[in-house]
Amino acid sequence: MRTPIIAGNWKMNQTPADAAAFVNEIKSDLDAITGVDKVVCPSFMAIPAVSELLSGSSIGVGAQNMYFEESGAYTGEVAPNMITPFCNYVILGHSERRAIFGETDELVNQKVHTALAHNLMPMICVGESFAQNEANETQAFVSAQVKAAFNGLSAEQAKQCIVAYEPIWAIGTGKSATVEQAGNIIKTSVRDTIQEIYDESVAQAIRIQYGGSVKEHNIADYMTHPDIDGALVGGASLKPSFVQLVQNAVVG
Ligand code: PGA
Repeated sequence: MRTPIIAGNWKMNQTPADAAAFVNEIKSDLDAITGVDKVVCPSFMAIPAVSELLSGSSIGVGAQNMYFEESGAYTGEVAPNMITPFCNYVILGHSERRAIFGETDELVNQKVHTALAHNLMPMICVGESFAQNEANETQAFVSAQVKAAFNGLSAEQAKQCIVAYEPIWAIGTGKSATVEQAGNIIKTSVRDTIQEIYDESVAQAIRIQYGGSVKEHNIADYMTHPDIDGALVGGASLKPSFVQLVQNAVVG
């Protein structure tokens, strides 16, 4: 049985002070929810404050990105050992990183290797554009992204990874994928691809989230799909109602 995981990606929102105030507002109610792993991913600047406020709670902290090198002349980048004192998770290859900052599949794969070497659980984002979706390229494209991200990982390492399937056309648009659409790609392009690379036990161990306009009112539907193990939530993770969203994810 896979424990579902709901992560809030705050993106470039919340100053450290705003983040601390927000965490104080949601902390105890979010902490009390069981049956699901809960993670918040603040901006780098807010991570230390949020991590301190959440220490001793059941709420994990993740970074939204990191570089794959350990240290050196990489102006503006953040190294893994700068986040490991505070974080257990790191989002890698978010479509905004790929589209706006030019991250390639190869770079994402290097980051995945580095994250695992530092005992950070990567949340690897994959997903197609609207044009690719219209052109019926989704399955092949997402499957290729998964293969590239897992390149060179052992089965044991692969099991530490979380994948977030986030169709780009559904991110921040309010046009969420249907449960059938999301579940189908998660099964055929993510889980089956992992099974092809490794075996059924690895494919069954890996948690796969859906992301893209997940809200308090639609999360429960996604959770009914046997292959969807939670969500990566953007906009709706910045509101106090994120607690209700997480609560609604707990099925059964
Ligand atoms: P959204 O963002 O929930 O605002 O659509 C999801 C994401 O980018 O992870």
